[in-house]
Amino acid sequence: MDIQNTFTQIFSKQPALLARAPGRVNLLGEHVDYNDGLVLPAAIDRAVYLAAAGTGDSTVTLHALDLKESVTFKLENLEEKVDINGQPLPGWARYPAGVAWSLQKEGLRVTGMQGVFTSDVPIGAGLSSSAAVEVAFAAAWRTLGGWEADGVTLARYCQRAENVYVGVNSGLMDQFASANGVAGHALYFDTRSLEWEPAPLPPGTALVIADSGVRRSLTTSAYNERRSACEQAVEMLKRFLPDIKSLRDISPTEFAAYSIELPREISKRAEHVVKEIARVESALNALKRNDSHAFGALMYAGHASLRDLYEVSVPELDTLVELTRELPGCYGARLTGAGFGGCTINLVKAEFADEFIAGLKAGYLQKTGRETQVYLCHASDGASVTTL
Ligand code: GLA
Repeated sequence: MDIQNTFTQIFSKQPALLARAPGRVNLLGEHVDYNDGLVLPAAIDRAVYLAAAGTGDSTVTLHALDLKESVTFKLENLEEKVDINGQPLPGWARYPAGVAWSLQKEGLRVTGMQGVFTSDVPIGAGLSSSAAVEVAFAAAWRTLGGWEADGVTLARYCQRAENVYVGVNSGLMDQFASANGVAGHALYFDTRSLEWEPAPLPPGTALVIADSGVRRSLTTSAYNERRSACEQAVEMLKRFLPDIKSLRDISPTEFAAYSIELPREISKRAEHVVKEIARVESALNALKRNDSHAFGALMYAGHASLRDLYEVSVPELDTLVELTRELPGCYGARLTGAGFGGCTINLVKAEFADEFIAGLKAGYLQKTGRETQVYLCHASDGASVTTL
């Protein structure tokens, strides 16, 4: 059943709009967006779809088609995170409620809403399914409220919803990519200046995403630990480099000079960040000169760094990456997203994609006894709203 028909069945009227907001994959620049760094994500052709209409009152009634669950909450007591009966909002409803809360904080007009949504972004796989939900609702409320905000601004409202309302201390990359995606392109995004440019993906290549099937429940605490290690590194390095504000301000050469002064673990975390930011700059140059081999080598180097220095990989992700070395047509592979499970991203010569996918599935099953879900993806446009 599609969302438009379900909407009509539930609310006995037509929706006023359809919103779409994609998930994302990150090609390079991992765990640097909370260090003012450079990232290189792409929106993918898997998305959240929302059918919605505004109401004249302050009631929001939403139906999550995939979960077959509904919720009703009021816009005047969003802080309390409860539904209309005073029960705690279910986990999934905190994302749209958080977006409404964040938009209100900004002083923007937020209308009551009736909505039905569905998603084909795999959940918990590191492909930003929650950012896609946030951006879809923010884009819908922007249209219903009649105000304007560009993609980066919308992403920041959504990031605040995630950081403060949902309570996950993520950076800006995921919401940014969902809001600003450009078909066929990666997005070179400077998370400090908030400037960005689309960078064409090499012609004749395919983006293959492979899900390890591993999900770690400690992801949030481990993520926050990594953030705090980066902050500690900055504090300690300020003794030698008093002007630095974040790891973005340190070049690999400066880091080599002072890393000896840091405790081993902090030094490893910071080394990943400093060198990963440099890798993104090199990767942009590789894209500009259409050098898929150089780009792929940077992906492999990024994975090794996430595995050995940042320590956010798991053996299953390492296996997925190692298998690609023996497979035809693969330029590069690495884990994508926060890590601790989830997916790898593989840049593959398009004509070898089928053979590559078959080989990866067979190899993974043989080495781990697990099936891998593989998605052949294309870089897609960011969020859009169609009024009906
Ligand atoms: C998660 C966060 C992002 C980013 C990545 C790691 O996806 O939401 O902000 O920090 O992890 O690069």
